[in-house]
Amino acid sequence: MTAATPPSSVDMSVDLAGVRLPNPMMTASGCAANGREMHRFIDVAQLGAFVTKSVKAQPVSGRGTPRMAETPSGMLNSIGLQGPGVQAFVEEDLAWLHSIGARVVVSIAGSTASEFAGVARAVVRSRYASAVAAIEVNISCPNVANRGLVFACDPASSHKVMTLVREEVPRGLPMLAKLSPDVTDIVEIADTVLKAGAHGLTMINTTLGVAIDVDRLRPHLIAATGGLSGPAIRPIAVRAVWQVAGAMRAGRIRTAPIVGAGGVRTGRDALELVAAGASAIQVGTAAFNDPTAPERVGRELEALIAERGFTRLSEVTGIAHERFTP
Ligand SMILES: Cc1cc2nc3c(=O)[nH]c(=O)nc-3n(C[C@H](O)[C@H](O)[C@H](O)COP(=O)(O)O)c2cc1C
Repeated sequence: MTAATPPSSVDMSVDLAGVRLPNPMMTASGCAANGREMHRFIDVAQLGAFVTKSVKAQPVSGRGTPRMAETPSGMLNSIGLQGPGVQAFVEEDLAWLHSIGARVVVSIAGSTASEFAGVARAVVRSRYASAVAAIEVNISCPNVANRGLVFACDPASSHKVMTLVREEVPRGLPMLAKLSPDVTDIVEIADTVLKAGAHGLTMINTTLGVAIDVDRLRPHLIAATGGLSGPAIRPIAVRAVWQVAGAMRAGRIRTAPIVGAGGVRTGRDALELVAAGASAIQVGTAAFNDPTAPERVGRELEALIAERGFTRLSEVTGIAHERFTP
């Protein structure tokens, strides 16, 4: 990682559906802009991968303010996927990430299934495509054609998005589906997207919450609802990874790598997700007050794995299932 990091005996490399990453640490989409801010604090090219903010086909100005609210152990946001649109993203952000040698997971979004496919096409056909380590499909946004129902809450919509994106993604480039915890049965959605061709899963996106301003006695956020992130959601993320990894181990759904996200602030938090079944880890909200967090958490995770006598990260992935007797 950094030049100051002593050599370690732990092999922290990750096989992300055929793509080798030197370590499991990633940013979480939307929490480190598109890399330049974070690069003032850590070398973004040293991360396992940098995950971009979800990009849509056209520029999006996002929701009005207030669009963030603090909560006792995290935050609510309703940014509304603000961004420059895929053409400007490729020419400015992806070009810059390519220039510093970063491995990039490009997060894509859309209001319709065909918008997702168009964004994927623009990214994989761009002249900076060699920097792209995976495409992360953020199906946690509303499907305008389906009365605003979030894609990831509906198996049929999720299936359609993943099928159309898969047609655009070249062989050998992993396609991750990013799932929402706001569903009755996350294993069912995982099964659906894997059947549609997803090579891996990222879990979890934020979970919906509302904050009321008790002076004005009205919702704090302009959109009323927002996505809850930070330490408050870590047990939900661990639960989602646990349930889906459990279904994979039991042969109920196809086995695929899981990228864990949700409330990770320390190596111990990351180790929880790894032991539950995650092969890689994303750090989101924690990076707002510690922009070195994705790199620091990786160092802490490595030390904890070494302390426990393991020599490979992959030996610890899902180990809690082996040590659990119901
Ligand atoms: C301000 C903010 C913006 C986000 N934007 C996106 C986004 O564009 N796409 C996406 O898939 N997830 C987005 N997320 C969700 C995060 O990537 C992550 O899944 C979630 O925050 C849980 O991780 P954390 O608790 O470490 O933040 C956003 C989260 C925050 C706090």
